[in-house]
Amino acid sequence: MDTSDIIHDGVSIKIYSADEPDKVVISFTDDITAFYKIKKAVINGKGVWCNNISSMISRALQKEGVPTYFVRQLNDTQQLCYKVNVFQLEVIVRNVIAGSLSQRLGLAEGTVPAEPIIDLCYKNSSLGDPLINEYHAIALGLLRKEELERIKDLTVKINEILVPIFKSIGITLVDFKIEFGRMPDGSIVMADDITPDSARFWDIETGERLDKDRFRNDSGRVGYAYQTVYERLKTLNL
Ligand code: C5P
Repeated sequence: MDTSDIIHDGVSIKIYSADEPDKVVISFTDDITAFYKIKKAVINGKGVWCNNISSMISRALQKEGVPTYFVRQLNDTQQLCYKVNVFQLEVIVRNVIAGSLSQRLGLAEGTVPAEPIIDLCYKNSSLGDPLINEYHAIALGLLRKEELERIKDLTVKINEILVPIFKSIGITLVDFKIEFGRMPDGSIVMADDITPDSARFWDIETGERLDKDRFRNDSGRVGYAYQTVYERLKTLNL
């Protein structure tokens, strides 16, 4: 693919224009970063594992009626997706307390809240993607009230679909980040890849972390974590 076609030159994904004008090609790389790109590395195979994990999850969500921007997997590292207007909003679902919420509220990692928590962040890297509430999202003009309601409903549904899928392969879906976009017809779709880069996966039996925290915390065997999630999901034929 000609790099002049590049639309978004990210670290773990690059987005290219597709032959069809309403679609884009998302290409997964082996690059990994953390702490606002201060820490960088290459994990051989990560692009393949993440593309496959994301594709399997997108297919499972679509099968259950969740609209997503995913069209189809093209090859080992690339997928075809609809071109959408992505809201500048990150939606984080937390089934178990970990990471920044643990620090912010002083709660032990592993605490299970009475109900899943949904956090909203303003996607603005110069501000450090700050945590916001629903009023801020509307006041900032990120989206309309009805769109926010739809996103909350879809987020709950996505979590309800994914938690049992991961449980069936011995993994607790601790938390994950997703983004949404608006299709040309105005409908809302999930427009993100759910992978160990953007979700926390803990092995149910051993508590072992199977996600990017291994890289953040220098725990080693980062590739093994991504590969394990991929191999276990593959057994489900999603
Ligand atoms: O950092 P924090 O603990 O709030 O992250 C919660 C979840 O959202 C984690 O799985 C993390 O990988 C993901 N996340 C992300 N992109 C961000 C912020 C968080 O993928 N910008």
